[in-house]
Amino acid sequence: MANNSEFSSKLGIIAATVGSAVGLGNIWRFPAETQANGGAAFLLIYVVCVLFFGIPVMLGEFVIGRAGRSDAINSYKKLSPDKPWWVAGLFGVVCSYLILTFYMVVSGWTMEYLYQSITGELFRPLEGVEEGSNVQFLQRMDEYVSGVWPPMIWTWINIAVCGLILSMGVQKGIEKASNIMMPMLFVILIVLCISAMTLPKASEGLAYFFNPDFSKITPKVWISALGQAFFSLSLGMGTMITYASYFKKDTNLMQTAVTVSGIGIFVAILVGMIIFPGVMSFGLEGESFKGSTLVFVTFPEIFNRMWCPQLWSILFFTLLAVAAITSSISISEVSIAYFCDHYGMKRKMATVIVMLPLMVLGALSSLSNGVLSDMTLFGFTIFSGCDALTADVIMPLGALIMSVFLGWFAPKNLIREQLTNGGKLKGYFVAPVIFLLKWVTPIVIVIILVTSLFT
Ligand code: PHE
Repeated sequence: MANNSEFSSKLGIIAATVGSAVGLGNIWRFPAETQANGGAAFLLIYVVCVLFFGIPVMLGEFVIGRAGRSDAINSYKKLSPDKPWWVAGLFGVVCSYLILTFYMVVSGWTMEYLYQSITGELFRPLEGVEEGSNVQFLQRMDEYVSGVWPPMIWTWINIAVCGLILSMGVQKGIEKASNIMMPMLFVILIVLCISAMTLPKASEGLAYFFNPDFSKITPKVWISALGQAFFSLSLGMGTMITYASYFKKDTNLMQTAVTVSGIGIFVAILVGMIIFPGVMSFGLEGESFKGSTLVFVTFPEIFNRMWCPQLWSILFFTLLAVAAITSSISISEVSIAYFCDHYGMKRKMATVIVMLPLMVLGALSSLSNGVLSDMTLFGFTIFSGCDALTADVIMPLGALIMSVFLGWFAPKNLIREQLTNGGKLKGYFVAPVIFLLKWVTPIVIVIILVTSLFT
């Protein structure tokens, strides 16, 4: 079945698509990955991955979604009715659901931190812990994340908020929320960035972030940067296929992909320009500031040493919450669109069917940071396993299948038709895009995936 929903304007399309792309991936995941992978070298490879793999793959998803005009699975079925390419769409639906299980938990942390910033609790010294020391925020985070009820309840609240927006539909829910939230996000980001530039060692932080040490570029950096590029552009799991099915006939796909990717890079750079000056200025580059807790420990610590900590932390966690919500709704929409299009289900019903089991899975993921932390497989908990599995394996695989399909097996004129809107737009970039999808993207993804198995 085809869907008949559509975004109402060009701006709405950009806001919703950027809303999907700019999320916890840029703000929570990016600085942690950058720090784990040698600073500026990682940034450089990340930008290369966005330009040469991110943009073509995003265009590929746009082509499939707008031509198929349906959810991720059915769009493939429409374009290639008697071949099993739709399996790539199925991958997407499953992968998006796995992502949601931990994404909703981290979004929940964000809301708790926003709440604690508003009440001032975040900056109240913990008893028995040396005051003014970094350990304060680390301990607070550890205790919070490994707790049972508060992180679980925030996960549920977050799922409910997203469900509410989604149940209102494509224009009145997704588009409207994005139109309000995205401008807010940019204003906050720029204010924070300006204030970070006034920190005492801002220039050292910028040097760490912008001067690459080429000896640090290893296969592991490539894998992580590619995973980060796909994750932060919402690729490889049907999100962009689903959103493109709501694009208009005259939407310029190339322009949209370049704008969204450009803004994605810009946001990641701004976030780095906020965090690394802070880290350097206050000597926070120790071991304890690595991994998934980085933004929840390092940022409060930075704010705590600035004038009016509460103000900055309210701004920052609002930013994070807004980014998380607009991305969460796009990830959930992959499954909701599937139920609506495939089973002809009403939107509200589909939303309930997707969100209710998520409450259980999200709770399990949240508990895996605490009471269920011993439940591991290959050293991964439910939470960290879903993150690594999706970003480093399933998303690149999804992108691989899609580019092989488009580059080699799809109807001959499909890409040209879609990228030029049936000949109305200039098509000089069509050949390079086809070349990248046919040769470069699949080969590089295979090399990176195989290398990752042996390193
Ligand atoms: N791009 C989002 C982020 O950076 C995450 C996401 C992944 C959204 C996959 C949709 C699909 O946070």
